[in-house]
Parts: sequence; structure tokens; C-alpha cells
Amino acid sequence: MPKAIITDQKKEEIRDAADIVDVISDYVKLKKSGSGFTGLCPFHNEKTPSFHVTPRLGIFKCFGCGEGGDVFNFVMKLEGVGFVEALRTLANRYNIEIPEEESPEYDAKTQLTEGIYHALRFAGMFFYQNLMEEDEGQAARAYLKKRGLTAATIKKFGLGFAPDSMDGLLQHAAKESINETYLAEAGLIKHSEHSDKPYDVFRGRLMFPIFNPSGKVIGFGGRIMGDRKGPKYINSPQTKVYNKSEVMYGIHAARNEIRKAESAILVEGYMDVISLWQHGIKNVVATSGTSVTSGQMRLLKNYSENLLMVYDADNAGQNAMIRGLDIALAQGLNVRLMHLPEGEDPDSFVQQFGAESFREYCESESRDFVTFMVERAKELDEWDDPIKQKNNISAILKSMSNISDSVMRETLVNHLRKLSGIGDKALFDELGRYIADNKRELQRDLQRAERRAEREQAGNQDGDNNAPGSLPYSSRRVARPKKSERPPYEKEIIRLMVEYGDDMVFYIGNLITDSHFEDEELKIFYQDIIQRYNEENEISVEVYSGKEHPFPALIGEIMIERYGISERGNELRSKKIRKDADPYKTARGALKAVWIEYLKRELDTYQENIRIVQTEKDRQNSYREMVDVRKRLLQFERGASGELFPSLDDLLESNKAD
Ligand code: CTP
Ligand code: MN
Repeated sequence: MPKAIITDQKKEEIRDAADIVDVISDYVKLKKSGSGFTGLCPFHNEKTPSFHVTPRLGIFKCFGCGEGGDVFNFVMKLEGVGFVEALRTLANRYNIEIPEEESPEYDAKTQLTEGIYHALRFAGMFFYQNLMEEDEGQAARAYLKKRGLTAATIKKFGLGFAPDSMDGLLQHAAKESINETYLAEAGLIKHSEHSDKPYDVFRGRLMFPIFNPSGKVIGFGGRIMGDRKGPKYINSPQTKVYNKSEVMYGIHAARNEIRKAESAILVEGYMDVISLWQHGIKNVVATSGTSVTSGQMRLLKNYSENLLMVYDADNAGQNAMIRGLDIALAQGLNVRLMHLPEGEDPDSFVQQFGAESFREYCESESRDFVTFMVERAKELDEWDDPIKQKNNISAILKSMSNISDSVMRETLVNHLRKLSGIGDKALFDELGRYIADNKRELQRDLQRAERRAEREQAGNQDGDNNAPGSLPYSSRRVARPKKSERPPYEKEIIRLMVEYGDDMVFYIGNLITDSHFEDEELKIFYQDIIQRYNEENEISVEVYSGKEHPFPALIGEIMIERYGISERGNELRSKKIRKDADPYKTARGALKAVWIEYLKRELDTYQENIRIVQTEKDRQNSYREMVDVRKRLLQFERGASGELFPSLDDLLESNKAD
């Protein structure tokens, strides 16, 4: 076996990923006990459990025989292997790649990754110096001072200022012999369509470096300054070292604090994190320019199971918080929610009232999510009206259905019964329906994950096991469903958008949304295209061929096979077509198929609902909705695609009108 190259960084990456409870649970039946777990020791014979696992510290200890250590020690002892082998086992299990020595692939890849990290670090220092030492940084310095940040805080979070020119970073990088490839791969510079001269992505912005848990810069958020035009924040794109859905802003500074405090505070903004930190409240993180994702919640759970969400006290903030709630619950976090006084965010609150008040406020004003949602409904005047109340209760039950711990669910249902006066049975019935819905959804997700894993195994020689969306270990135990293909009309949509660019993206983007996609990866692809469009970034085959996994593989798959879509129903022929005589006509054909398949799936869902709903009223509601969907489906099936969708000119015209 070739020798593995294991850097410290790799070790930490594996340690971060390998959940000790998860690993030990494969060998020992663990029972929750206090803040840890106990079970029968696998290293000696015993009848009563003296084996303890403390996830917060990442260690196990047997008080019977004295064995103990971290997750690596556990695997070493149990499997009787050395350290490197134990690392390898865990790396395999969590889909982390350990490169082999002397593999040319490793060399090229490592070189690239290290080049990217180096460029990011370099840029971070450049922006910092520019902020702190140059005349150019003066306004930004004053701004940060006005917002109450000290020099120590600015340094701790590595804040900076990007020069207000097209090539400030580029020029400085050239002086220091930083390769442009790395700057481009790091998402710091871009090539325009019209000239081959690259330019800086971040210009005249206040810079917030985003760090990974071990403290490496992996990306940036850039905040607009003064009264300039443009988006408030520009965030680094997804790169080889920056996977947005698995990164939390501030985690490098907060992770030990979260362990110590046994809870994490999740806020919305970069400034909220920094400001709370400066006031000594340090177990704080934010998402970075995304809504809450499962990956982020899994990451947090490595540090603590308890989460307090404190979003801005405006409608947008509260709605985002409630959306994030379901995802946190589904990852098994104990979530509490808090509503700050109207118009405040954590930053403004702590600046005005101080840390003590913030702590007290958390103590007295945070709520379990059921209480929170009921109080919110009352505040919005949606509790006295019976129909509105019913909808709110349904929403609460729906959120509750994400919790997998049945005891916790039961406790919360009881709580909801007290708050609403609705009988147990009705609540449990409805909850049961949502749980059934989730199970079906999960089944579908798992099947997709399986398909993806198969594809990766079959076709993926680029060894990118660590890529987002790779199969989590636990799903491997699921029986393998039949292999199936991505819907060709969905591929067709992506192909058209990538091949024809802006106008086509505008056209299609107005006629469907990401929720119409069945294939998860194509859905993400679609979202990425829309985002690039909104940020006025180039959209082309070349761009996607050069992006991170899985885009190049997807673009390959999409461009190699071209499907023609028959006008009759949504029947598909995989006949090759020479060229799109009229790409918009091709688009309408594909759009029609997407809509038909989407409505069919909707119809299935309603039919299933009608089968399992409990009350007559729910049944009638579902029935009515189903009839609507069926009507629409019929419309799409019968209509010619030219009649179903407007032309590009029509769309542009109506867009101008409003
Ligand atoms: N955000 C973003 N893109 C935007 C606006 C916001 O990515 N156009 C993200 C950023 O991560 C930001 C967070 O959403 O930190 C919260 O947004 P907001 O409350 O508007 O900004 P703050 O960071 O709180 O900035 P400030 O307090 O300076 O207004
Ligand atoms: Mn804010």
C-alpha cells in the first residue's frame, strides 16, 4: 500500500468530520445520559455500563478498565491498527480524501489548493494593511470606528478594505509574484468577456474574510461603503476551498466558546458576530450570504446540540429565522428562538445596552420554538381568528415533524396542546401526516443520493470524494434502488441557459423556478446560473467546465447528449438534433415537459395526502387543490408549447411595463 500523506490540516479535517458518538455507536449501543452517553465497554466484559462518551470534548473513557482517548484512539484500540490506518478508516467513512504519496494527481491538486489558500491569505493581509495603514483606508477606518469596533477586534477578524480600482489587488499580487491562476481560482479576480485582461472582484469594499474552523481564509464578504450603487454585499463564489453550504462565519473564533458554553448563538450578519464577540459574547456564528443549510447545522452540532437563533427584528429576519428553524430541527439541534425589540439587530442591541443586558435578555426572552411561534402568531393577530389559528398550528406541527426524537416531539405536542387548547389526538394525527410526508421525501432524497453515489463511483475518476453532496456514510446502508437517469428535459433547460447565456436565462428564469426541478444537482445548477445572472457574471460552457465539482461533470453530461423533445405530450426521444433552429422554440418544448412532470409529481402528492388525511375537512381541502392541479396539468398537456409560453419579446415588453 502506498504511504499516505497526512498533513496536520488533514488530521484536523478528519477530526472535525468524525463525530465520536457516531463512530462509537457502530460498536457500542450508547444511551444518552446527561450531556454525554454511556454504554457497555467494548474493551472489557461488563454487565453494567461504565463506558462514557463526552461528545463536547470529543473523548471516551471507561471507568471500569481505564481505556480512554479521542476518536482516533478508539478506532486504533478497537481495530488494533496504528494511527495512520485509523485516520484512513475514518477518512474513508466520512468521504475525506487522503492522497497517496507520489501520485502526480496529488501533486497537481495539492499545489493548486495550496496556491489558492496562499492567494487568499495574501489578499486578506493586503486588504488589512490597506485598511489600517493607507490613506485610502481612512474612510473605512472611520466607519468601523463609528460602528464601535476596536483595533483589536478588527485584527481578530482580519477586516480590510479593497482598493477602489480595477486592479489594486492584481497589481500588488504581481509585485509579490502571486500567480493569477490562483487569484482567479480563489474568486478574487475575474476575466471580462470583452478583453483578456482580468480585474479585481472586490473594489472599494469593506472586507470580511471568511475563515474555516482551523482559521484559514477561504473566502470574503465585501460590504459596500458610503452611498455607492450596487449590492450591499458581494460574497466570494463557491471555490475549491470554499463550500458555502458547509461554512459558518465566525466559526474559527467561536468553536471552543460554543463547546464551553454548550450552546451556539446564530445571527444573521457579519457585524452581529463581530460586535457580540467584542462584547465578550463569543459563542456566535452567522451564515455567510446563504440561508441556513443542513451542512452548516451538522457542522455546528459537532460543537454543541443547543442553538439559539437571534435574527434581525424585522419581517425579513423573522421569516428567514423560521425557515432556518426547520433545518436546524431536522439536524437534531435543540433550538430556541428570540425576538429582539423592534428594529434592533444583535449588533445594535449589544452596542446600546451592553453584554449583560444581552445575556439577561436571552435568559428571559428566548423561547422554545412552539412558544415562539404561538406568541408570534398572537402578535401578528393571527391567533383569535380560528382559520388563521389553524394555519399557524399546522405550521408549528409541520416544523415539529422535522424532529426525529419522538420523546421531544411528544413533549412539544403537549406544550402546544396547553397553549392552543386543541386535543392531543387531533394534533398527533396531523403531525403523523407530516411525518409520513417527510419520510416519502427522505426516501426520494436517499434514492437520489444513491444514484449520485453510483454515478460518482462509475464515472468519477477525479477522486473528488470530499465534494459537496457526496453521500453521507449512514445512507450506504439503504437498499440500492434501481439506477435511473436525470430527466432529459431538465438537462435540456440547463444546456440552453449555458449555451445561449443572458437572454435565455432571463427567458427561462421567468417561466420556471428551481422548485420545478426534480434532479437535485440540476436544481443546484439552475440556482447557480440564476445567481450568476443576477450578479452579472459570465455564463458559458467554459465557465462551468472550469468550476468546482460537480459542474464540469454535469456540463459534460449535458453537452454530450443532446435531446430533442417531442411536441407530443412530454414524450422524449433521445434523438440527436443538429442545431437549435430556434433555441426559444426548443426551450418552450423543454419548459412544457418540465411543467408537466412537475404537475404530475404535485398530483401524486395530493393523491397520497387524500389517502392519509384524517379529517373530512382536510380531505376536502386536498381534494380541491388536487382538482386545480389536475386542471393545470390538462392545460399543459393539451396546449401547444407556443401557446403555453410567451415569446422573449413579450416577456421583455411586460417586464418593461412594471
Ligand atoms: N447578505 C448578503 N448579500 C446582501 C445582503 C446581505 O450576502 N446583499 C448577508 C451578509 O452575510 C450579511 C447578512 O446577510 O452579513 C445580513 O445582512 P444585513 O443585516 O443586511 O447586513 P449586516 O451584515 O447586518 O450589515 P450592517 O449591520 O452593516 O448593515
Ligand atoms: Mn444588520
